Amino acid sequence: MKAIYPGSFDPPTNGHLDLIQRGSKIFDELVVAVLGNPEKQPLFSVADRRKMLEAMTEEFDNVSIDTFDGLMVDYAVRIGATAVLRGIRAISDYEYELQMAMMNRKLQPGIETMFMMPADKYSYLSSRLVREIGQLGGTIDCLVPPLVAQKLREKMDVAHKFAHDNDSSSQERSTPAHTAKPRKRKS
Ligand code: PNS
Repeated sequence: MKAIYPGSFDPPTNGHLDLIQRGSKIFDELVVAVLGNPEKQPLFSVADRRKMLEAMTEEFDNVSIDTFDGLMVDYAVRIGATAVLRGIRAISDYEYELQMAMMNRKLQPGIETMFMMPADKYSYLSSRLVREIGQLGGTIDCLVPPLVAQKLREKMDVAHKFAHDNDSSSQERSTPAHTAKPRKRKS
């Protein structure tokens, strides 16, 4: 049986990896499908998310990574998948997942949604929290694979540099040279 594991993966976490590992044991073929153009602005480009997932899953022979746009069930039919894998961490996930699964069944009755639970140590982990913790300078090393942690740090460095450069140039524009205060030393 060929299944897809669709999601935003912005960024992929250890919880996603845990589910991929479990799914790869159940399905003959598992395609991790990254949504190309979600409504919200992603932190990582589709290409970056794809590369991170490829690196994270290279040890699994029956797992591949792809991207898709449009309806997920249309994509599943297009590639010949008959099941959709989704993770449920807590009861709070269930309502949204149930609604989505039922709607997908309405759209495409031939495709079954299967839910799996990640290890309980990942039950509170989400991409949104990883992004937030990373952006605020917290430690994310135990939440995501090393490559993702590295990519997140690089993103934050670029963002800080951009903010710093913008800050300096706006100060240069708005503060006449003779009144400019000396910059604080960085510790
Ligand atoms: O990781 P996410 O953001 O929870 O994944 C949500 C995703 C990508 C599975 C869902 O938004 C989706 O399937 N989007 C594609 C558009 C679609 O098929 N929408 C109808 C859903 S009933």
